[in-house]
Amino acid sequence: MQVTLSRKPTFQTHIVILTKEVGTKAIADFTAEINEIAVRYENKLTRIYCGLGDTSHCTPAIVRAAAARGIQKAAELKRKNCSLLTTFSGQPQRDNTRAAVEGALLGSYRFSKYKSQPSSALEAIEFVDRKMSKDELHTIDTICSAALYARDCVNENASVITPLWFAQEASRIAKKSGMRVTVLDEKQLAGKGLHLIEAVGQGSATPPRLIFLEYRGAPASKPLTALVGKGITFDSGGQNLKPTGHIETMRMDMAGAAAVLGAMKAIAQLKLKVNVVGCVAAAHNAIGRNAYFPGDIYRSYEGKTVEICSTDAEGRLVLADAIAYCRKQFKPSRIIDLATLTGGVLTALGDLVAGLFSNDDALAGALFTCGENTGERLWRFPLYQEFRDSMKSDLADLRNTSKLKKGYASSITGAAFIQEFVGVTPWAHLDIAGTAFNEGGARGEIPQFATGFGVRLLIDYVTSLEK
Ligand code: BES
Ligand code: ZN
Ligand code: ZN
Repeated sequence: MQVTLSRKPTFQTHIVILTKEVGTKAIADFTAEINEIAVRYENKLTRIYCGLGDTSHCTPAIVRAAAARGIQKAAELKRKNCSLLTTFSGQPQRDNTRAAVEGALLGSYRFSKYKSQPSSALEAIEFVDRKMSKDELHTIDTICSAALYARDCVNENASVITPLWFAQEASRIAKKSGMRVTVLDEKQLAGKGLHLIEAVGQGSATPPRLIFLEYRGAPASKPLTALVGKGITFDSGGQNLKPTGHIETMRMDMAGAAAVLGAMKAIAQLKLKVNVVGCVAAAHNAIGRNAYFPGDIYRSYEGKTVEICSTDAEGRLVLADAIAYCRKQFKPSRIIDLATLTGGVLTALGDLVAGLFSNDDALAGALFTCGENTGERLWRFPLYQEFRDSMKSDLADLRNTSKLKKGYASSITGAAFIQEFVGVTPWAHLDIAGTAFNEGGARGEIPQFATGFGVRLLIDYVTSLEK
């Protein structure tokens, strides 16, 4: 997508997003309600009007969604290019203008690689704005492109996006942007004692990988943020095989890893003045000749032994080893992990909000704020001692599923398991099982299928560390 800035609209299709105050007066049979869209033709011009509702209630989230719908309408009308115009008055104009650009870029996405005859797609968007700078537009474009990149990774076939693919892709990104990359292969994982990742990956023809991307944008300063992504490239459930109805979408179980890669890419492109290490724990949870068994006990890298009560609770296993190894190697000041960890988070929050779990109120608060800013919303859950106690095993140090009644607090106990491996490092876990993949229809800037959830959130958080 080509994105440019202009003082006047030069294309023949105009997307005009506007509040009720402006809309009702100006356009016949259009009242600018939220979600309302109207197309009007005038000489050679096509105008797509997108409503924002009342000016007093207009938020960046509403603007983002409206701009996305406008763009989708333009694509539906088979336009190749369009100009985007905003007419806000009053409210925090800067945030709303930015949200309009984000909505347009995110809303223009489609995954058409496997369509023999893809439907017509937009090629260029021009933003008509007098206040936005080229730099600002470039920043928003870089961030949104990273989100689209993560969507592409998640939508792609599981037979393409293997742990080996992650290792190669991370190396490619590192080379391009001057980051340092480290890849541990299955032999190194076994040799160094990362037996949990090893166990999860051993049933597959494509072996597991633990990958680190190091970005040093503030070499003189100490603080280092670790971003850790669950990269289960396909979650069959293993011996605890997932049934039909639950297995079909499990190529999305690497969405946390995709978000981390996407964020790292953008952080490096934007040359943010921060230090970040991105970590991808990649494995295919297969059912096969060498697959690990329920009832097996493994020693983790950290030292604690784990009884495998379900081979389908594999995400916490790879994260546990990834986080413990990351702490030892990099001594990060804080750790944020992203994982499609539990179905339970869908029960609690649906596909609208991700679960937030943390041992640090300041970190949790900062991430919550980033969620509100970006529209990638988070809601915090408690990690009381009783939940942690429910992860104690009679045979080993820990169990990988809780002793609570089946289905009880599964998102919290999953987080409580990970907490056993973070020590005293400030840590936040984002359960994105519900938000990473949209099985319904498109909702504004959120498309059907992979959403890219977490990329913009992580970049917003890391950017906030610059100040
Ligand atoms: N990858 C799944 C979680 C998931 C479910 C992601 C639905 C996206 C949509 C995870 O590995 C899993 O299987 N979790 C189990 C844990 C249970 C065995 C304790 C779950 O949530 O049922
Ligand atoms: Zn699973
Ligand atoms: Zn999983």
